[in-house]
Amino acid sequence: MKGIILAGGTGSRLHPLTLSVSKQLMPVYDKPMIYYPLSTLMYAGIKEILIISTPKDLPLFKELLGDGKNYGCSFSYAAQESPNGLAEAFIIGEEFIGKDKVALILGDNIFYGTGLASLMQSNNDPNGGIIYAYRVNDPQRYGVVEFDEEGKVISIEEKPKAPKSNYVVPGIYFYDSDVVSIAKSIQPSLRGELEITDVNKEYLKRGKLHVSILDRGTAWLDTGTFQALMQASQFVEVLEERQGMIIGSIEVAAYEMGYVSKSQFKELAQPLLKSGYGERLLGILNKEI
Ligand code: TTP
Repeated sequence: MKGIILAGGTGSRLHPLTLSVSKQLMPVYDKPMIYYPLSTLMYAGIKEILIISTPKDLPLFKELLGDGKNYGCSFSYAAQESPNGLAEAFIIGEEFIGKDKVALILGDNIFYGTGLASLMQSNNDPNGGIIYAYRVNDPQRYGVVEFDEEGKVISIEEKPKAPKSNYVVPGIYFYDSDVVSIAKSIQPSLRGELEITDVNKEYLKRGKLHVSILDRGTAWLDTGTFQALMQASQFVEVLEERQGMIIGSIEVAAYEMGYVSKSQFKELAQPLLKSGYGERLLGILNKEI
C-alpha cells in the first residue's frame, strides 16, 4: 500500500503564524507537525509516501525530509496549485498510486494510542474504503457519520448545521485504487472544493465503505487553531517528559518498523544530540527489554 500526506492548504486560522511558513512545518512541541502524520503512515507499514503541498512550501518539505532513504522509505513530492479540496490528492497522485491501494492522511492530524499501529496495519488491503468515526463535542466542523440502530452507516454529511450524531471522520482514509476514478467523477462543492466526504459517499452508495469506531483510548488531535496547536504541544510534552518516550518520531518509527538497522538509527540521532531530541532517540535503545 502507498501513502499520501496532504500538507497544503492556506492555514488561515493560524495567521499570522502561517503567512510565510506552512502550517505543517509549525512546531508541535519538539518536532515539525508533519512528523506526526508521517510516522503514523510509517507505523501503518507504508514506506512509499507522496507529500503534497503548495508550490511555495514544497521545497521546504524536501529540505526537511529528503528522499526518505535515511528512514528506509521512499518520499516523493507533488504540488497542489491551489487548495481545491482533499479529494484532489488522488487526482494529483494518480500516477503515484497506479494500480495500488492508498492511504491518505492530513498533514495537520495527530493520532496517538495503544494498538493504533496494528489497527492501521490491518487496513492495508481494503476492498473499497476504510474510514473511522470518532466522537467529538463539535461535530459540525467535520464530516458527520450517522449510524442506524445496528451500527450500520446510513449517511455522511460534510459540516452539517444540524449534525445527526457526534461521530465524525478523522483525517486518515484507506482506499482501493478505484479512488482515483471516483475523485475524478465528483463535482466541487458549493465552497469550491472536491470533498473527501463525496468520495466516501460514493463508496457508501456502492456498499463498499467500512467505518469502524476509533475507541476513546485513542487521541485524535487536529492542530488548525492557536488553541489546538498549543494543546497538541502540551499533550506531547506531558507524555514525553513524564514517560521518557517519543511520540510522532519518524526516526523511531523507522527503527521500530525495521526499516532501518540499529546502527542506521544511531546515525540518525547523531546530528540531533544538541537539542536533546537525539538523546531521547538513543534513550529508546536503553528501554528495549
Ligand atoms: P483545513 O484545516 O480544512 O484547511 P487549511 O489547512 O487551509 O486551514 P484554514 O482552515 O485555517 O485556512 O485542511 C485540512 C488539512 O488538509 C490541512 O493539513 C491542509 C490540507 N489541505 C490541503 O493540503 N489542500 C486542500 O485543498 C485543503 C482544503 C486542505
